[in-house]
Amino acid sequence: MTSKRTNQTTAGTQAASFAPAGPLTGRIAVPGDKSISHRSLILSALAVGKSQITGLLEGEDVLATAAALRAMGATIEKSGDVWTVYGVGVGGLMRPETAIDLGNSGTSARLLMGLVASHDISVTFTGDASLSKRPMGRVMDPLSAMGAEFTARMSSDGKACLPLTVRGLCPAVPMEYRLPVASAQVKSAILLAGLNTPGITRVIEPVLTRDHSETMLKGFGADLTVETDKDGSRVISLTGEAELSPQKIKVPGDPSSAAFPVVAALLVPGSDIVVENVGINPTRSGLFAILQQMGGNISFKKKRTVGGEPVADIHVKHSKLSGMDVPADIAPSMIDEFPILFIAAALAEGTTTTNGLSELRVKESDRLSQMAEGLSLLGVDVTEKEDGLVITGNGDLIPGSKKKTAIETALDHRIAMSFAVAGLVTKKGATVDDMSPTETSFPGFADMLATLQGSAK
Ligand code: S3P
Repeated sequence: MTSKRTNQTTAGTQAASFAPAGPLTGRIAVPGDKSISHRSLILSALAVGKSQITGLLEGEDVLATAAALRAMGATIEKSGDVWTVYGVGVGGLMRPETAIDLGNSGTSARLLMGLVASHDISVTFTGDASLSKRPMGRVMDPLSAMGAEFTARMSSDGKACLPLTVRGLCPAVPMEYRLPVASAQVKSAILLAGLNTPGITRVIEPVLTRDHSETMLKGFGADLTVETDKDGSRVISLTGEAELSPQKIKVPGDPSSAAFPVVAALLVPGSDIVVENVGINPTRSGLFAILQQMGGNISFKKKRTVGGEPVADIHVKHSKLSGMDVPADIAPSMIDEFPILFIAAALAEGTTTTNGLSELRVKESDRLSQMAEGLSLLGVDVTEKEDGLVITGNGDLIPGSKKKTAIETALDHRIAMSFAVAGLVTKKGATVDDMSPTETSFPGFADMLATLQGSAK
């Protein structure tokens, strides 16, 4: 048995069981990069004229961004594999007729708040139960300093959350902002607000985070510079009001999605796979470096540059892994990959320690507690600390649950996919309560696993 879908449990949820079923082999491609897909649509919507995008991730999160941009006046169409966007020009967004539902997508929420902040419109954003718990103050603070006004629901623990309404100011006030958290979403929200703001908007980033916004803004013709100051911080300066010219964009495969088949192949004995066309931008590829240090046989073939981003085919063979102390400073380059790293750690021989991960508590779920809970249900030796997990593996299969309880995913796609991979290396397998969140970032995830399993026969 491989990834058998069981009956739907509650309305809309899809429980599924995953169990050991032989080696993974073959070549696959993963869907387009989620971060680059959001930015491709947003920047195309702000250019004057027709942009074309191939390889766009057609997951729910990115489709939410597309729907929001349409509601604010951009024309976005799909024909075959090509998405065509007719942009309205920087400053040209219009007030949507109704509130915009962003589903599960934190990136849509934070980037679009930035975009609206310097337009003379007001927009209400809503989201699902997961997104409605996530903190929005981190973007509201700098955007308020630029002149935008917000009305947000306050959570019981005093955090500003969705639903919220942003009333933009045009012209907004340019500013210099030093990021208090390492967050590419906050950085990008400010830069997007800066596009329609006269003067120089400057973001100072003490810790490097994914740099797709900077690369793509330059690619669209914005006047943007990146310098390093005396203390080593990155200083990103954007001159508004910008004019963006339409582009043809090829979105590479998402390293955060490739992480799942890569770890699965490392863990399942006898596996040998290639994941084609994966983005390996150093601000995103920390997981692959850590897995190599743990003893993983991972090599990068046919390295090339696609649309300004480094890309490679990743060749992975089953490997015996050893536990390690993961340095906290690598976290930003693998921030979405800790759930699947924790599964690798459960199979490694020895102890893996992680630190500095309090940001994981405000992702689609509290990923430290969801992962600790699921792993201990499967009999793994795991300790949850405030800012990380400590996991000790014995280099063998995960023992498995004595009870038949399904692992809780809490509307978090990466928790669901991580435990699906865990099931492949758990004695008697594992059941995940709901695989439907995988549609946000990895449509076809179960089929991808089945392909790798099927080609072994
Ligand atoms: C993203 C940035 C990261 C990441 C998210 C996508 C982006 O969030 O976790 O999945 O596209 O900018 P933070 O900015 O909150 O670290």
